[in-house]
Amino acid sequence: MATKVLVIGACGQIGTELTMRLREIYGGEQVIASDIREGSEEIMASGPFESLDAMNKSQIEDVCLHYQVNEVYLMAAMLSATGEKFPKKAWSLNMDSLMHVLDLAKEGKIDKLFWPSSIAVFGPTTPKHDTPQHTIMEPTTVYGISKQTGERWCEYYHQKYGVDVRSMRYPGLISWKTLPGGGTTDYAIDIFHKAVAGENYNCFLSENTELPMMYMEDAVRATVEIMRAPSEEIIERSSYNLSGMSFTPQDIANEINKHVPDFSISYEPDFRQQIADSWPSSIDDAPARKDWNWKHEYGLDQMVTEMLSHLK
Ligand code: SER
Repeated sequence: MATKVLVIGACGQIGTELTMRLREIYGGEQVIASDIREGSEEIMASGPFESLDAMNKSQIEDVCLHYQVNEVYLMAAMLSATGEKFPKKAWSLNMDSLMHVLDLAKEGKIDKLFWPSSIAVFGPTTPKHDTPQHTIMEPTTVYGISKQTGERWCEYYHQKYGVDVRSMRYPGLISWKTLPGGGTTDYAIDIFHKAVAGENYNCFLSENTELPMMYMEDAVRATVEIMRAPSEEIIERSSYNLSGMSFTPQDIANEINKHVPDFSISYEPDFRQQIADSWPSSIDDAPARKDWNWKHEYGLDQMVTEMLSHLK
């Protein structure tokens, strides 16, 4: 059967680039983009678009039936910083949308499912450096709690009902095409927009806050690769640790300075500092590397060079 894909949250930071990559692979008509709002010109013109609320199961089901969808990528979510402002809303959006697609898979209406987890599943009691796949997980943000719970449900649906769900814990994702919204790692994107505008960047995290990060190119490739891997290679049915690079605001500012000597950064930590402090500074992703041959490509210097050249 030909692969027919539905991307929910196709107009967001990850969804936009993932949808375009999937359309390159499977063909524009084979990949249905959906979101509560319309997206970029590129998304709207390159294949079908459906306006859809990720919290409405019958809407998702109708689109799946109409297009005979067999794979769903659920990219809609409320991120960590916004989640702290609207805890109940974050919980409902992040959990309801996942339960809807898990149930559609359980009911045999879709064959395969991708759902992203996050480094936010970890908490202050987790080993901070080279955080292993299996470790203490006591998240302190609503976003992290929803992702951790989601991971448990994914594994449960796989074990009990044979649902083919695949997941990875994205680090902070850095991209130039679509702005992120409401995340704690967003500073690492905001900083570039200030640098190319010739302005100072006032960072909401302190200079030595080290967090795991990844260039979007790597994250999209990881997503495509885990979905195309043979089912028996996917051992972890909760979610895989995934690692690219780790850096602090000071590290990235120094790297930008190599290209933009006048660029300056100042620091004014806000409530997001506490969120960042609860997360790991680096991730050990050995199981992903072993099970489905994950390999990152982008380091800090390469990522900074690319970001600046695209944004200029
Ligand atoms: N980038 C996300 C955030 O900062 C983490 O998954 O909320």
